[in-house]
Amino acid sequence: MISTEKIEAAKERFGQLLKEQLQRVEEMKAQGDFIDYKSLDQIKIGVCGGDGIGPAITSQAQRILEYLLRDEIKAGKVAFHVIEGLTIERRAAENAAIPPAVLDEIKKCHVILKGPTTTPRKGDPWPNVESANVAMRKELDLFANVRPVRIPEQGIDWTFYRENTEGAYAVGSKGVHVTEDLGVDFTIATTQGTERIIRAAFEFAKANGKTRVTAVTKANIIKTTDGKFLDIFREIAKEYPDITADDWYIDIMTAKLVDEKRRKDFQVVVLPNLYGDIITDEAAEFQGGVGTAGSANIGKKYAMFEAIHGSAPRMVQEGRDIYADPSSMIRAGAMLLAHIGYNKEADKLYRALDICTVTEKKIVTTGRSNGATGAEFADYVMETIEKLK
Ligand code: IPM
Ligand code: MG
Repeated sequence: MISTEKIEAAKERFGQLLKEQLQRVEEMKAQGDFIDYKSLDQIKIGVCGGDGIGPAITSQAQRILEYLLRDEIKAGKVAFHVIEGLTIERRAAENAAIPPAVLDEIKKCHVILKGPTTTPRKGDPWPNVESANVAMRKELDLFANVRPVRIPEQGIDWTFYRENTEGAYAVGSKGVHVTEDLGVDFTIATTQGTERIIRAAFEFAKANGKTRVTAVTKANIIKTTDGKFLDIFREIAKEYPDITADDWYIDIMTAKLVDEKRRKDFQVVVLPNLYGDIITDEAAEFQGGVGTAGSANIGKKYAMFEAIHGSAPRMVQEGRDIYADPSSMIRAGAMLLAHIGYNKEADKLYRALDICTVTEKKIVTTGRSNGATGAEFADYVMETIEKLK
């Protein structure tokens, strides 16, 4: 028996989702331009440690940023605010993806350095609250997730522009169990949301001398939303005649990234949320694993910088969090510096990280007591910066 009552209930839920998303479209239409950090009297940097190894590695990244920005801090041009409470315990207790009081504190800052947060999975002891990452990206409208992967010796220099507020993630926690037997999830693409991410990718390419932007979709199958993404990509590409624009389907793109002859040719890649999630883990693996990658989440008003790995709760249970490798958080910190206009400092930090994690590696973390602590590694990074010309 098909229950019309259940279908009506599902339609009701779906209607609500559509209202929310159309409301979001109106908000995007009303949005101004990107914030100009130079016009601020003081740039406020919020630091959220997060869960598991998060506080241990985030505090090391903070130490390095405070060291690089010491003159600015003294002059009152930059201030750090440690924001407590973005933890799974508190989120579970308040049954909120981000506790409202924490979100208020976050919104008082301009940029956020965020440690990894636990995302409850089915079977966990926590209520199924939405991922704090995903919630923060939505709350602060951080639509561009920028993930660079560089392996100079292999000629790889990729920058992924992952759409961060739409696709399968936008309403990922709001699917409907229509009946016991039928589950439905939703994926969305808006004109405004698609245009802004694609334009951001082309603008980045233009500003950084890149000659190719590649879109990745599965528009042959997911015809409406991915189709929209691809159509808009082709339209916007016409505004950038000096940049080669091409598109690939996600399946063959995943394969091409392991093709050593072809993969060097990719430069800037723009893609919907879920494909971006998947392919940036694959890409980071070539560079040395997700632990080596930083990620910038950029919106017009706020920006947030994070590692792309998880919170490793087992390391904390075994008392090993002080040995956790902070290099991805430090890399996220370098992206933060560049984003707020401290390019010289960012550049120093990138160079020091290359020395400390690739060429010299005098001090290494192993995640265990036979390796360095995160603090020792951070000291090594700062000593290395000190020696740079
Ligand atoms: C990432 C992560 C997150 C995501 C998780 C932790 C919610 O995998 O930043 O790529 O899926 O976006
Ligand atoms: Mg991911």
